[in-house]
Amino acid sequence: MARCDSEVRWPAEGLGWRPPDLSSIRFESERLVIRNYELSDIETVYDAINECRPELRPWMVWAEKSHREIAETAQYITAQIMNTRTPDKWENVGLGIFLKDTGEFIGSTGVHDVRRDTASCETGYWMHIKHRNKGYATEACRRTIDWALAPQDKGGLGLRRVRIFCSKENEASVRVIEKLGIRKEVEMKDDYWIEGVGCTTRMGWGVMADEWKLTPL
Ligand SMILES: CC(C)(COP(=O)(O)OP(=O)(O)OC[C@H]1O[C@@H](n2cnc3c(N)ncnc32)[C@H](O)[C@@H]1OP(=O)(O)O)[C@@H](O)C(=O)NCCC(=O)NCCS
Repeated sequence: MARCDSEVRWPAEGLGWRPPDLSSIRFESERLVIRNYELSDIETVYDAINECRPELRPWMVWAEKSHREIAETAQYITAQIMNTRTPDKWENVGLGIFLKDTGEFIGSTGVHDVRRDTASCETGYWMHIKHRNKGYATEACRRTIDWALAPQDKGGLGLRRVRIFCSKENEASVRVIEKLGIRKEVEMKDDYWIEGVGCTTRMGWGVMADEWKLTPL
């Protein structure tokens, strides 16, 4: 969710958080591997988005217009690779979720809107329709929060805070966050326009590093 106008216009140094080396992000959970995208993932990711496009809409705003050509997916994945090579400007990365057993690509997570002043980030996720309702998004999100909040000398980003936002109408996503057991912080009535649904309530959750039961990476 966007910062207020004055924060954007007069950015503060604040905590002055800096990222660790991001060139090879990879962490595992019980059933999943979560890692940086590679150029060899382009076709797989493009196909997955096209197979799931109707179900990604309306919740993923980009799903309406983006990744209509494989060149756009190539551009997206190249951008994910390149932005981890520029730590001074880095503020987001999309990561692929793969099944540990078969290596199959099943969805995406990552961190975005990384804020250096408050050492915080947002996270999100989407899952291929073939793999929904098996607990994978919850497992991936829990592990991504571990990665975001773990200290840098233990393989994490060393952030203090993670936030997640979604529409109240997105019941599957709300359920994922409820299963994570993190604190609901905001409920903003009719603040979030969802194409095809209309004005919906924006809900926001947050967790601090000292509140999160961290499983070591
Ligand atoms: C949200 C999403 C990532 C969930 O992925 P997933 O792997 O199926 O999630 P999980 O299996 O971990 O948990 C889903 C939970 O939602 C529940 N659920 C699924 N559809 C539901 C619905 N229409 N209404 C209510 N609950 C629903 C499931 O029963 C499950 O809860 P349970 O374990 O208590 O039974 C997936 O639906 C998706 O990709 N949606 C489109 C993209 C999106 O909305 N991303 C989030 C943007 S904020």
